[in-house]
Amino acid sequence: SSKPIVIVGSIVQDCVSYTERFPNPGESVRGNDFKMGCGGKGANQGVQAAKLGASVTMIGRVGNDMFGDANINGLKKAGVNVKYIEKSDTAPTSVACITVDNKGENSIVVTLGANLELNVERVKKLEDVIAGAAMVLCQFEINEDTNYAAFELAHNHNVTTFYNAAPGKPGMDKEILKFTDILCTNENETEFLIGRQLSSIEDFKVASRELLQYGPKTIVVTLGAKGVLVTDKDNTELIEVPRVKAVDTTGAGDSFCGSLTYLITKYPDKTIAELSRIASKIASMSVQNHGTQSSYPTSEEVRGNGIEL
Ligand code: RIB
Ligand code: NA
Repeated sequence: SSKPIVIVGSIVQDCVSYTERFPNPGESVRGNDFKMGCGGKGANQGVQAAKLGASVTMIGRVGNDMFGDANINGLKKAGVNVKYIEKSDTAPTSVACITVDNKGENSIVVTLGANLELNVERVKKLEDVIAGAAMVLCQFEINEDTNYAAFELAHNHNVTTFYNAAPGKPGMDKEILKFTDILCTNENETEFLIGRQLSSIEDFKVASRELLQYGPKTIVVTLGAKGVLVTDKDNTELIEVPRVKAVDTTGAGDSFCGSLTYLITKYPDKTIAELSRIASKIASMSVQNHGTQSSYPTSEEVRGNGIEL
């Protein structure tokens, strides 16, 4: 369809230091390299979908500062519609201080700044944009009540909703799940939602079935190297993921979610399990390059890697 994927989500300036190992509290370590890039889970997912060829509209908020301009430009360059991104005069553009070690693992401190000013009122004002979406996507880097309002509107207009509850936190709101069609979580986020520790694949299967009771039709749990678990009312399938040498895993989950939403809107007749396999191959390409948005492959690069799109 020509309807856009609409993201109601975060925009973040990423500042990334590459080092041998993470510093301990009170310790300084040297970085080998430093890179700045456009980030934020919402923007990242939008950019990945757009790079694959999706029409994407982003609803978001940055500060009236140079990071805000840089991030809006980055989104524009990727082909994302930035018409509904506002600039704040009261809060700065969000910044993430990211450290990546020699295993490609990351640790992040993100200060959400202007993202936290994206409020319910703003979303309600953009009801028409949400009503006209092919799918609405939210993450957990803006206020929960804003996500809730966006999904409630989408739900009322029969628009499919995709919730990537990342990074989440213990005791996070489950009310929104009643308006969620597709829920995507990693191991931690699944534990946060379910409220207990999970270890085996079987634990995650049980948890996924429990999460279905709250409203979603499909639960997608990314389990790192162990694969992607896709559960609906009839089936649970564990999808294998490619093993690759990671340079930087930051934003790999966003590459996966952005790819998956694009694929679901493009191939509504294929199963989400089937499409998750392709999305995980695309995400595995992203971990082989530095940065988040800058590392996401385009449709040509994906096809060039032998992946059918
Ligand atoms: O998921 C990765 C993103 O999370 C980074 O781009 C960073 O902005 C953090 O918020
Ligand atoms: Na990357």
